[in-house]
Amino acid sequence: MALKVGLVGTRGIGGQHAEAHKADPLSDFVAVCDLVKERADSFAERFGVKAYYSLKDMLDGEPDLDVIDVCTGGLENGSWHYEPAMQAMDAGKHVLVEKPLSNDIFEAREMVAKAREKNVYLGCNLNHYFTPPAERAKKYVTDGEIGEQVFCLMKMGFQGGEQANYKAPTGANVAGFPTFT
Ligand SMILES: NC(=O)c1ccc[n+]([C@@H]2O[C@H](COP(=O)([O-])OP(=O)(O)OC[C@H]3O[C@@H](n4cnc5c(N)ncnc54)[C@H](O)[C@@H]3O)[C@@H](O)[C@H]2O)c1
Repeated sequence: MALKVGLVGTRGIGGQHAEAHKADPLSDFVAVCDLVKERADSFAERFGVKAYYSLKDMLDGEPDLDVIDVCTGGLENGSWHYEPAMQAMDAGKHVLVEKPLSNDIFEAREMVAKAREKNVYLGCNLNHYFTPPAERAKKYVTDGEIGEQVFCLMKMGFQGGEQANYKAPTGANVAGFPTFT
């Protein structure tokens, strides 16, 4: 059964999320909110969903929402994630939030704790998770090859050198990345 989705933040990446929700039979995209009325209105018209101008109003107006998709930005692209994500989880909703989870480690930990407390999913959309460099980095951590990780600097290219040098395993998708089932 499709999950009912409400999206927060319409200016940039929100449009790509909306297109993905529309194309996915497991997603029933029903509402959107943005603090800027004109953005919410034009976005709602474009995708045929209902517009709200605050998350509170969207939660009140659409009590059956299963998932809140947080596409806000802020300082370092992460300072506006905490408030809507916490509000949504407090309302018992699952949350997908754009990367980074937060630009503040203490807020990020509170968000994870809130998901546990409310028994809801909190997913962070880092679209590089399932790539060979990320797999190798994870292996370094799990194999104890580095100590406590406090910082990570990562450089990655699309269709560029790294991918060109990467030999796709049998069953890889057309982009050359492994498929996960
Ligand atoms: N995964 C990727 O490849 C990728 C690519 C681009 C951006 N991003 C991430 O997406 C997020 C958003 O980036 P962007 O460039 O689209 O941001 P943006 O600043 O262009 O747009 C954010 C929108 O959210 C609205 N907004 C902010 N706070 C709100 C709130 N509390 N309630 C309702 N609306 C609110 C703003 O009015 C704005 O329209 C960032 O975290 C960024 O890191 C990810």
